[in-house]
Amino acid sequence: MELVQFGCEDWLNVWEKSAKVDIAQSTIESMTLEEILELEPDGGKSFMANLMKEKFSYGWIEGSPAFKKEVAKLYEKIPVDNILSTNGATGANFMAVLGLVGEGDHVIAQYPSYQQLYDWPKTLGAKVDYWKINEEEGWRPKLSELRELIRPDTKLICLNNAAQPTGAILDVVFLREVSKIAREVGAYILCDEVYLPLNEKTDYAPIADIYEKGISTNSISKTYSVPGIRVGWIATQDAALADEFRKIRDYTLICTGVFDDAIAALILKHKEKVLARARGIVKENLEILKEWVKNEPLVSMIFPNDVSVSFVKFNQLDPGKTEDFAIKLLKEKGVLIIPGNRFDLPGYARIGYCTDKKTLCEGLRLVSEYLREYEN
Ligand SMILES: Cc1ncc(COP(=O)(O)O)c(C=O)c1O
Repeated sequence: MELVQFGCEDWLNVWEKSAKVDIAQSTIESMTLEEILELEPDGGKSFMANLMKEKFSYGWIEGSPAFKKEVAKLYEKIPVDNILSTNGATGANFMAVLGLVGEGDHVIAQYPSYQQLYDWPKTLGAKVDYWKINEEEGWRPKLSELRELIRPDTKLICLNNAAQPTGAILDVVFLREVSKIAREVGAYILCDEVYLPLNEKTDYAPIADIYEKGISTNSISKTYSVPGIRVGWIATQDAALADEFRKIRDYTLICTGVFDDAIAALILKHKEKVLARARGIVKENLEILKEWVKNEPLVSMIFPNDVSVSFVKFNQLDPGKTEDFAIKLLKEKGVLIIPGNRFDLPGYARIGYCTDKKTLCEGLRLVSEYLREYEN
């Protein structure tokens, strides 16, 4: 079993602590515990008082009733029993792929997207075909190409919606077509949905509601702004599949912990407030990003539609020098981005524009400055 290095995670592991100006992260500016507790009308006093008396046992093994109830509200067709808590969305994706894929299975994966969605099935011995995204399609893949890739024995299609690192959204009409193609051969669809589109006009829905063999994975790490609590979940209409995932959980996780579960349930209970905060940050910062791109001839971008990741193109950078540029940008200007080669897309970079405004403005200014100083 050979596991390849996780490109963007490895980059962050090595470099993120040296950043003075971090515009690489995909989370919408993380909330403090104080901000989280203030979601409650009494400032979290009774929440904390209850927690102080709680025994820190394993707690509810597959997620507390309060947590599962809140997660179930995010879907139309998912019974509470088919929701399982996981250690983040990475834990959910890991479990879904492990539960569905084995040696020799055929998998189709949106590519590039979140690396776990294609390299983890490959590690398990699957034959993974890439369903490539196209810049000219707004970073979406083409349905016609999926029709060419699908096989009678295709076991799983892996999607990321909205997608990392581009922020591209697969809308409901598109997903229904994907489901139709999958249904013809009985394939499952796994969709990592950590980047929730925040524009209310977007025609968005989780795959677990759209498709009877759909599996939605999600967490409170990105749009919900709390990656410091390692809680995600997996949701599917298929009860037998949920049981399969339950079995894997016993080997890999047991539970997400009393404290993390309680905070995750609190975040989701107040999701309207949390999402309003997130929406405010995204809208304001996206305007700053757009203004920068408009005035900076050395970059261009297909703007994300109110999704927290963005992918910038460096118009005059030699694509072969993308990582070198990013390392020198960090060393000389203190600015952290993620070079696009870490997503197999050299010549571009992920900019996490949903940080605080001052950091974003300073980071963009320094990128512009360094684009002029860097020698290709
Ligand atoms: C698409 C996607 N899924 C999952 C994760 C990790 O999520 P979590 O913190 O919930 O494990 C990331 C982090 O960058 C991501 O981009």
